[in-house]
Amino acid sequence: MERYSDRSTDMRSGIRSGRTNVIRCVGVASGAVGLLIAVSSLCLAQGAVSPPGRLLASNCAQCHGTTDAAPGFDRLTGKSASKLLRKMHKYQSGAAGEGIMTHHAMGYTEQQLRDLVQWLSQQR
Ligand code: HEC
Repeated sequence: MERYSDRSTDMRSGIRSGRTNVIRCVGVASGAVGLLIAVSSLCLAQGAVSPPGRLLASNCAQCHGTTDAAPGFDRLTGKSASKLLRKMHKYQSGAAGEGIMTHHAMGYTEQQLRDLVQWLSQQR
C-alpha cells in the first residue's frame, strides 16, 4: 500500500510536472506567435507607407497600360522618372487644371509617386 501510494505520488508529481511543461510550451509558443505577429505587422506597416511601384501602377494600367501596347492615353512606360514625377506634381498641385489626372494624382504621397514613376520608367 505504501509502495502504491508512493507510486501514485510519483505519478501525480509526474502529471504535475507534465502540466508545467505544457504550460511552459504554450508560453513559449504564444511568445513566438506574438513575435511573428509583431514582425508581420511591422512589414504590413511598412507596406502601407510605401507599396511597391508595380502595385501602385496597376491603378494606371486601365487608361495608360503598363506595357508597350497602351490602351489609349499617353504611354507612360519607359519614360524618364523625373519627367513623369514633374508631370505628377503638376497634376497634384492643381496647376494642370481639374481633369482626371489632377484628382488621381492627389491620392498619392510623395514616396508613392516616387515608387510609381521609378517602376514605370523601368518598364519597356
Ligand atoms: C481614368 C483614366 C486614367 C487613369 C486611371 C490614369 N490616367 Fe493619367 N491620364 C489620363 C488622361 C485622360 C490623360 C491626358 C489628359 C490630361 O493630361 O489630363 C492622362 C495623362 C497623364 C500623364 C501625362 C502624360 C504626358 O506625357 O503628357 C501622366 C504622367 C499620367 N497621366 C500619369 C498617370 C499615372 C501615374 C496614373 C496611375 C497612378 C494614371 N495616369 C492613371 C487618364 C488616366
